[in-house]
Amino acid sequence: MKKLCLLGLVATLASHPVWAETKPAALKDKDAFVSDLLKQMTLDEKIGQLRLISIGPEMPRELIRQEIAAGRIGGTFNSITRPENRPMQDAAMRSRLKIPMFFAYDVIHGHRTIFPISIALASSWDMDAIGRSGRIAAQEAAADSLDITFAPMVDISRDPRWGRTSEGFGEDTYLVSRIAEVMVKAFQGVSPANADSIMASVKHFALYGAVEGGRDYNVVDMSPVKMYQDYLPPYHAAIKAGSGGVMVALNSINGVPATANTWLMNDLLRRDWGFKGLTVSDHGAIFELIKHGVAKDGREAAKLAIKAGIDMSMNDSLYGKELPGLLKSGEIEQSDIDNAVREVLGAKYDMGLFKDPYLRIGKAEDDPADTYADSRLHRAEARDIARRSLVLLKNQNNTLPLKKSATIALVGPLAKAPIDMMGSWAAAGKPEQSVTLLDGLNAVIGEKGKIIYARGANITGDKAVVDYLNFLNFDAPEVVDDTRAPQVLIDEAVKAAKDADVIVAAVGESRGMSHESSSRTDLNIPQSQRDLIKALKATGKPLVLVLMNGRPLSILEENQQADAILETWFAGTEGGNAIADVLFGDYNPSGKLPITFPRSVGQIPTYYNHLTIGRPFTPGKPGNYTSQYFDDTTGPLFPFGYGLSYTTFTLSDMALSSTTLNKTGKLDASVTVANTGKVDGETVVQLYIQDVAGSMIRPIKELKNFQKVMLKAGEERTLHFTITEEDLKFYNTQLKFAAEPGEFNVQIGLDSQDVQQQTFELL
Ligand code: BGC
Repeated sequence: MKKLCLLGLVATLASHPVWAETKPAALKDKDAFVSDLLKQMTLDEKIGQLRLISIGPEMPRELIRQEIAAGRIGGTFNSITRPENRPMQDAAMRSRLKIPMFFAYDVIHGHRTIFPISIALASSWDMDAIGRSGRIAAQEAAADSLDITFAPMVDISRDPRWGRTSEGFGEDTYLVSRIAEVMVKAFQGVSPANADSIMASVKHFALYGAVEGGRDYNVVDMSPVKMYQDYLPPYHAAIKAGSGGVMVALNSINGVPATANTWLMNDLLRRDWGFKGLTVSDHGAIFELIKHGVAKDGREAAKLAIKAGIDMSMNDSLYGKELPGLLKSGEIEQSDIDNAVREVLGAKYDMGLFKDPYLRIGKAEDDPADTYADSRLHRAEARDIARRSLVLLKNQNNTLPLKKSATIALVGPLAKAPIDMMGSWAAAGKPEQSVTLLDGLNAVIGEKGKIIYARGANITGDKAVVDYLNFLNFDAPEVVDDTRAPQVLIDEAVKAAKDADVIVAAVGESRGMSHESSSRTDLNIPQSQRDLIKALKATGKPLVLVLMNGRPLSILEENQQADAILETWFAGTEGGNAIADVLFGDYNPSGKLPITFPRSVGQIPTYYNHLTIGRPFTPGKPGNYTSQYFDDTTGPLFPFGYGLSYTTFTLSDMALSSTTLNKTGKLDASVTVANTGKVDGETVVQLYIQDVAGSMIRPIKELKNFQKVMLKAGEERTLHFTITEEDLKFYNTQLKFAAEPGEFNVQIGLDSQDVQQQTFELL
């Protein structure tokens, strides 16, 4: 017995990373290393590697450490500091094979420093800024011992009723795909094995943004062409950029839940796309296969998931419980388990953990004295990135920028809302570290002007909504009402307005209203705030709305009432300062909408690149028997790509280098953009293409390129875009990705509607 143990020890040491360090050759070849380790593992240890455990009230930490030491856990999530994670890695180093744990977290838009929410980052159309936000998030997360994030979230969202619209990068395939690449590269840096990088796991694979009616967790039923053309490319872009992981979606796809979908994970992801990384189920998703109605019990659920290619089961005991029996009965094969374990070990190898399990945990003596110290934040970058993400929607009579000597009535439930400023999925961000709008304005105004603050309204007057939003906040409720009567709040705000030169009203949603499980039937600003806006308008003072929200809202009436509107989404830790920079003109706004703003919820979907139809509505030529709603103006309130500046830009002299394009050739599309106003500024010049007649119907236009340019007042510049056959390809009815000869319209504009057009022919 003793001898056996000793033999075991030798085997243990032989696979132990510390041992491997002295013989680095063993670590050089990933496949050989993983295969060798796999051979030494018992079934129990293998299944242990497939379990991803949430750190929370469900399992005491002591028990978790015991399980880890017994080789029964592969990774955890939601434990986010070095002192918390070190004992767990120590436990792994006490396990027989000493396979390191990995530590995961939802680092979506920042870790300690919170950057603007994803839909806001996308509004910057600034790939450099977006990349910086991801890189800093990775550095901060890695410094806190995290190895992998469940991000980027690249679900195309065309239905703003879906609360997770806030978490994605908008409605457009091209823009979201570009950002997907940038984010993966930012998280993973030079290599996911570096100490200042974390592995990306793109989510939610796939099509989660297309849930029916915008109802979270619902079904997705979609034509293959639409899938391939519009919804799948962002995930593919993330994978081509090297995303080490993929999180599988909670929804079903054409009748089969993603978690049990062999076509999705085996055929598409691994075979067609060549993905060689880790797949993780979403939270509890394997168990939910029973609820979906495709598994009769937990045993069948586990079988479906492992067969479909789910490597790791998130917060789900079914793999641990059911896989041994399934294997014994022959319902699954050893290779099903081995393939999954191979990916987990491979991911840990790629994270650099076999070289050094403490790569990101470091030594205790190097732990930050105060994990939450302000000095650990990247405030300057957060402010810079946030102000690039703000979108000026209206600015009648140059109401903005404000004078720093003005008396400003600052009102609204979001003017002093540090939690909301961070947005949902705010990782390890601390509300006490976020700069509110009141803080931001005060910092600029100083002694020069004056701020009169009044709350004016609660987020909503609907108690049931408040209760819903507070339901899961265990520590403290997030939505806290001022208990005074609504009219008292309004009267106070109106008094402030009357005493001021201008009103700034911070209105919109609390962060929880745009979150997971936060679908809405109504995209209006809640009534309590609309009452406030109406009363403010009645004062006759210039009214600036600062919108905070995680999805497009229907603000038809507010657009009529307000003199200026700034869409700020949830702008992050430095939000208040960034918004103040724009309100006072210290930064000239340059954001553009990555998603269409509907006039009303009934118009949804309103995405700009819809397909051509036989009876299109023609603006200016209304008539019966065209596609429209007869009871409202047709078209969005603000189109995709729209956003104003404190200067004016004009486009002229659009030209194509040729009226024809060979399949192997290039075409140059050029345009001159001029800053015709009085201040320097940036704008986004957007290029759209329309395939005029194809073998099937095509979108009325599709974004294919853009450039964000900075121009000094009075400056002009000619921009060039290259068009190749690649830009003209699409998935036809046979799902063949090819371009078809014929006529194409090229449109260049400062938004998706206001464009100039030229035509060429693909030969
Ligand atoms: C969400 C995922 C998230 C996971 C872990 C789930 O509820 O759908 O996006 O990564 O929880 O927090």
